Amino acid sequence: MTRGKFIVFEGGEGAGKSTQIKTLAKFLQDSNIDFLQTREPGGTEVGERIREVLLDKSLPGMHSDTELLLMFAARAEHLQHKILPALDEGSWVICDRFTDASYAYQGYGRGIALERIEHLEQWVQQGTQPDLVIILDLDVEAGLQRVSLRGETDRFEDEKIEFFEKVRAGYLNRAKQYPDRYLVLDAAETKEQVATKLIDALESKIQSWSQ
Ligand SMILES: Nc1ncnc2c1ncn2[C@@H]1O[C@H](COP(=O)(O)OP(=O)(O)OP(=O)(O)O)[C@@H](O)[C@H]1O
Ligand SMILES: [Mg+2]
Repeated sequence: MTRGKFIVFEGGEGAGKSTQIKTLAKFLQDSNIDFLQTREPGGTEVGERIREVLLDKSLPGMHSDTELLLMFAARAEHLQHKILPALDEGSWVICDRFTDASYAYQGYGRGIALERIEHLEQWVQQGTQPDLVIILDLDVEAGLQRVSLRGETDRFEDEKIEFFEKVRAGYLNRAKQYPDRYLVLDAAETKEQVATKLIDALESKIQSWSQ
């Protein structure tokens, strides 16, 4: 049994992750590839409860260490009980955010030393890494504008612009460091343009994986 591919979508608020996950899901369905679609923080019963705490606006004073550790607690549950079993069965996993979000938000955004995040990453993931991380890169204000139409904000969405600028720069830094694993797409283009570029890039990735 060939292990499935682990594909992660990242990017700031409103960059189009949920939108392009649908594009990929349709492509995989049309290609008869089994996949599991999931998200972080969350994806399991325990993880979704942790998510509620993490996004709760009535908990504004949460310490950044607490936030980071909760993210990784949810991730441990998610990996052990959902992601790894699916990959082992040959299913692909499409995940809305993963460890790059911890680097971008808690590391670059909140200022936690990146080595601390690396340490947790090694502990919890034990070498498991996404096969491909798709970063939807978008001007911060444009992204916030897109989500503002939704009305309700969460604990993260209430942050200041400067925080999201650091998050965006953090994602781009990660992509520069590990170019093989990352695909950065200009999320300011139309949904259709982003979708076409995503599928083109994925098709060539699939070819390179099969060689
Ligand atoms: N390329 C695009 N151009 C214009 N609008 C877009 C584009 N992609 C998505 N949108 C719209 O922007 C809004 C946010 O998109 P989406 O929910 O996919 O983003 P997201 O990255 O999942 O956001 P969140 O961080 O809140 O989960 C939606 O109303 C969506 O229809
Ligand atoms: Mg979304």
